[in-house]
Amino acid sequence: MKKYILCIGMMGLALQGYSQSAANGKGIYAKTCIACHQAAGQGIPGAFPPLAKSDYLNKDVNRAIKGVVKGLKGPITVNGKKFNSAMPAQALSDQQIADAMTYVYASWGNNKTKVTPAMVKAQRK
Ligand code: HEC
Repeated sequence: MKKYILCIGMMGLALQGYSQSAANGKGIYAKTCIACHQAAGQGIPGAFPPLAKSDYLNKDVNRAIKGVVKGLKGPITVNGKKFNSAMPAQALSDQQIADAMTYVYASWGNNKTKVTPAMVKAQRK
């Protein structure tokens, strides 16, 4: 019984951590990413790719993190549309990138991946 309660407690904490990260990330997104990727993650056709229901984003979390950490340029295809532009490396901390990306993954039909600061750090190498 004790174990059971502990287990529920830990699940609660994990969930709280998740929504806290997404909540912080919303603010970071609104300051940093929104200018290009827009309020509902819809992007701007021909210029900035969508983050909403993005197949590129949902397919490979580490590739997505790397683009945000190191910048991304050259041809990519997102949801069947070609983009050939450049995203500058985002000058944010591991925690800020983790929170912003957790928010993006939690929004607009994406697959709810939780991005941790350790995952961001691993892509800085
Ligand atoms: C100055 C404009 C700009 C800003 C600011 C910016 N991006 Fe981007 N982003 C781009 C462009 C342009 C591309 C596509 C680059 C290419 O064509 O190779 C891109 C690509 C991406 C991709 C991969 C493609 C996709 O649509 O899934 C992700 C994920 C992403 N950005 C997330 C972010 C996040 C998160 C932030 C904020 C921390 C951010 N971007 C800030 C312009 C921007």
